[in-house]
Formats: sequence, C-alpha cells, structure tokens
Amino acid sequence: MDWMKETNEQLKRGVFLMVKGNPMTIGWGQFGIIWGKQTFSVYVRKSRYTHELLENASTFTVSVPKSGAMKKELAFCGTKSGRDVNKIAELNASLFPARFGAQDGFSGCRYHIECKILFRTDLDEHLLEDGALLSRYYADGDPHTMLIGEILGVTEEE
Ligand SMILES: Cc1cc2nc3c(=O)[nH]c(=O)nc-3n(C[C@H](O)[C@H](O)[C@H](O)COP(=O)(O)O)c2cc1C
Repeated sequence: MDWMKETNEQLKRGVFLMVKGNPMTIGWGQFGIIWGKQTFSVYVRKSRYTHELLENASTFTVSVPKSGAMKKELAFCGTKSGRDVNKIAELNASLFPARFGAQDGFSGCRYHIECKILFRTDLDEHLLEDGALLSRYYADGDPHTMLIGEILGVTEEE
C-alpha cells in the first residue's frame, strides 16, 4: 500500500502528529498489527505540550506531507511548542476536517491517518538494553509515552 510506504519514507524527514489542532513533528512511529487491528504507534516525550493534550484525547491523526514537501512547517512544528504559539495560525495554515471521527489533520498534506487510541504506556528507559541508546536519548530523562492507535481510516488529500 502506497500510503504506508510513503509514510515510512517521510518519517525520516518528519510527519505531523495532530491533537486538538496542535501539530507536532514526529520522526518515530510504526505500522503494525496487534489485537487483530491495523495500527500506527507514536512516541511522545513527557515534556511535549502534545503529551498533555493526549492525556485528555481518545484519538490522534498523523498527517503525512508529500515526499520532501513542507520543510518549513516541519521545522517549525518540531521546534516550537503549542504552549507558546498557535502553530497553525503562525504558519497561515489550516486544518483538514476529520472524516473518521479522530482529530483534524494539517491541510495540504498527502495523507491523513486517523487513529483511535487503543493503548498507552510510559516507556521505562532503564529497560533499554542498549546502553549507548540510553545515554544518547535519555541522558536528561524525559521518557517517551508509547501510544498505539487503531487506524480508523486514511484520507488522500493531494
Ligand atoms: C524531525 C523531527 C522529529 C521529531 N520526532 C519526535 C518524536 O517522535 N517524538 C517526540 O516526542 N518529539 C519529536 N520531535 C520534537 C517535537 O516535535 C518538538 O519538541 C515540538 O516542539 C513539540 O511540540 P509541542 O510542545 O507543541 O507538543 C521531533 C522534532 C523533529 C524536528
């Protein structure tokens, strides 16, 4: 399926994790099957505003730019926090209305993957068996929460 392949490719440059109108750039994520459902999992550090928004959300949407596109938006949404700025407004962007009951996407992307949260867990970084990764990613703490989302539907925008 093209949308999975393109998403995997674009993750290397970034895609948008959308919760309550706040886009956050993510580079980690994966498709899989668990409990018989097609899923997409995301990893969000505790310090992110998105983490706070997800605490009171039952869905998320992943908006995937066209290959290599939206570099400025990805950089902005990967460095600015929704606590300080309204990223969509600052970028003169708009939201793409949800079609499957999850979150509105980031307009102008190629795909919007709407997900219902099935499971969430805080990752204990001390269980990471590779010491080099532990010091590279968690020297300052700030662990990730993993959220497994059931894919409700995918919209191809452009
Ligand atoms: C290319 C790229 C990939 C990123 N991937 C992640 C990620 O997978 N998980 C995460 O917690 N933060 C990730 N970040 C950092 C967040 O996007 C960044 O801290 C953002 O400002 C948080 O926004 P928020 O406070 O509005 O949630 C990434 C940043 C960039 C530039």
